[in-house]
Formats: sequence, structure tokens, C-alpha cells
Amino acid sequence: MPKIIYVDINGARRECNVANGVSVMEGAIANGIAGILAICGGSCACSTCHTYIDPEWMDRVGAASDIEDSTLELAYDRKPNSRLSCQIEVTDKLDGLVVHVAQNDG
Ligand code: FES
Repeated sequence: MPKIIYVDINGARRECNVANGVSVMEGAIANGIAGILAICGGSCACSTCHTYIDPEWMDRVGAASDIEDSTLELAYDRKPNSRLSCQIEVTDKLDGLVVHVAQNDG
């Protein structure tokens, strides 16, 4: 099972085993990661699952789709490495991925 490393808004780092096929957001919720709200439940409509992808992982994670890109416009403090974690599917190729939780509660 891939390991995803979440760094929450307080800088706390947690290594979590997340099953293939679920989203990085679902993995965060299942593991109680602070700061991932996911108010829309993963339908790419709210931006409250906003994360920053560790720069070393940007190529492997890839770019946001057009729909995600427009929802990211709602996110606070969007950066070049911003992604909505509900739109990233966990696979073996993301084993070791480091994501930093963004400020999602306004
Ligand atoms: S959970 Fe709402 S956009 Fe990701």
C-alpha cells in the first residue's frame, strides 16, 4: 500500500498508508489530517481540500484538469504547486508523495 506523507498546517508530518484507487483527500480524512475539510465530498466544487505538492513530486503528480483549475481559483493562496487533493488518485507511483495542507478554513 502506498505511503502518503501529509504535512498539516501546523507543520506536523504524518506518514499514512493509503490504498490504491482512493484520493489523497480521502486518505487524509481517513487518517484525521488537520486542515483538509473536503466540504463537497470530493466532487471538485469547493477547494477545501487544497494542498501544495512537494516540488520534487510535481512531475509525477501532474497538472490539474481544466475543471480542477477553475475550482482552484476559489482556493486561498493558490501557488504553482497547488492541487486539489480530491483530484489526485493514489497509485503505487505516488508511494512516498509529500503533500502540504493549505489554509482551508478561511
Ligand atoms: S473536496 Fe471539494 S474540491 Fe476537493
